[in-house]
Amino acid sequence: MVDTCGSPAPIPVTTRVTPGLDAGILRAMSARESNEGYSIIENASLRGRNTFGVEARAAMLVEVREPAAIEGLFNSSLLRARPVLVLGEGSNVLLTRDWPGIVLSIATRGIEVLDDDGATARVRVQAGEHWNDFVHWSLSEGFSGLENLVLIPGAVGAAPIQNIGAYGAEVREFIVEVEAWDREAGNWARFDNAQCAFAYRDSVFKRACDRYVVTAVTFALPRQHTLRMEYAGVREELAHMRVASPTPSMLAEAITRLRRRKLPDPAQIGNAGSFFKNPLVDDALAQTLRREHADLPTWPGGAGKTKVSAAWLIERAGLKGVRDGDAGMSDRHALVLVNHGHASGAQLWGFARRVRATVRERFGVELEPEPRVV
Ligand code: FAD
Ligand code: EPU
Repeated sequence: MVDTCGSPAPIPVTTRVTPGLDAGILRAMSARESNEGYSIIENASLRGRNTFGVEARAAMLVEVREPAAIEGLFNSSLLRARPVLVLGEGSNVLLTRDWPGIVLSIATRGIEVLDDDGATARVRVQAGEHWNDFVHWSLSEGFSGLENLVLIPGAVGAAPIQNIGAYGAEVREFIVEVEAWDREAGNWARFDNAQCAFAYRDSVFKRACDRYVVTAVTFALPRQHTLRMEYAGVREELAHMRVASPTPSMLAEAITRLRRRKLPDPAQIGNAGSFFKNPLVDDALAQTLRREHADLPTWPGGAGKTKVSAAWLIERAGLKGVRDGDAGMSDRHALVLVNHGHASGAQLWGFARRVRATVRERFGVELEPEPRVV
């Protein structure tokens, strides 16, 4: 069994386990569901809740609509006694097996402007808001900054988990505060930007896997912001649109078009975007690789490290568009693991490991999955 969070099998964060609990608590909680801001489904299918579209079942799916319900749920023996997997919109998870405990879906909604001095506004967003809707809301309100992050799937609460990024921007640039339930301490916690320890596709929340349940994120959104158009293809797309002086919304439109062209759509073919991170390798290894392969795309990685293109490594290893049954790498983008129809999570993970082994053998570079592999 695998879990990229580090545990071979899900382990409850707290250890107080009351045996023989399920039926009674379940009945009691199900009875209270309608007025307590959450609902419960037993033996729930997760197929429609992960963008790979793989079948896996949760012993119990708890969907939270009211933030106030979270504390009570975590203080109940039901959640204390069972492994809990938090799920947003399932666009960055690969489920290789059923989940024996509780899948907690945060479906809370709300966007609240806390203050606005005319230059910058602080905006608090509930974790269950859809990220792309929030980006479009921010543009329609005259804010700027999030346009490069348009069309990234998922919920707002998941955005800080791996510090989502695209087209030369990362969400950490705009995050002021993250609110979370700390499962280990059993209380609410607030993280300012520095405490989130953001890095490339990483944060304190991703590292302390399963400890924090993000419930709201506060952003600082500027009205004036220098547009980022340096990422490969962006200026060309704007030129194609015949736009010389883009507004943030026009830049969002250009990036939307680029993304639709480059990445397979999960509604058509199951995937989770990039399956591997772009690896950070020692500068010396990067130099050796570049001497042998002048066209290998690289970026500065900080502190003696260079970031190299995982898509390039996979394509050069001959794996772009290759499939084994219904599991394979996309023929549109070499970094995207795809489910051609009925692959199981275990088959997809098997194919991903084959890709990893081939790239290691060929280039001496270790690829690390970006999504959480359960
Ligand atoms: P999920 O997949 O549900 O969860 C992801 C992880 O976060 C899991 O470990 C889960 O336990 C945890 N989690 C989720 N919500 C919470 C919460 N409230 N509290 C605590 N933990 C939580 N990512 C990028 O960075 N850039 C891209 O350009 C990009 N493009 C993509 C394109 C496609 C087509 C797809 C399918 C994915 C892409 N992704 C990209 C990945 C994905 O969209 C992001 O990682 C997104 O933030 C995941 O959101 P989600 O709600 O689906 O999270
Ligand atoms: N490339 C190939 N073959 C391919 C595709 C790309 O060789 O099939 C090479 C090309 O040289 C290209 C380079 O890889 O110039 C970079 O490709 P791309 O611009 O598509 O970016 P990426 O490094 O593959 C990263 C993120 C994406 C993000 C884009 C745009 C990671 C792991 N992935 O992909 O994020 O949207 O940049 O900023 O950092 C995600 O995280 O799920 C995701 C999709």
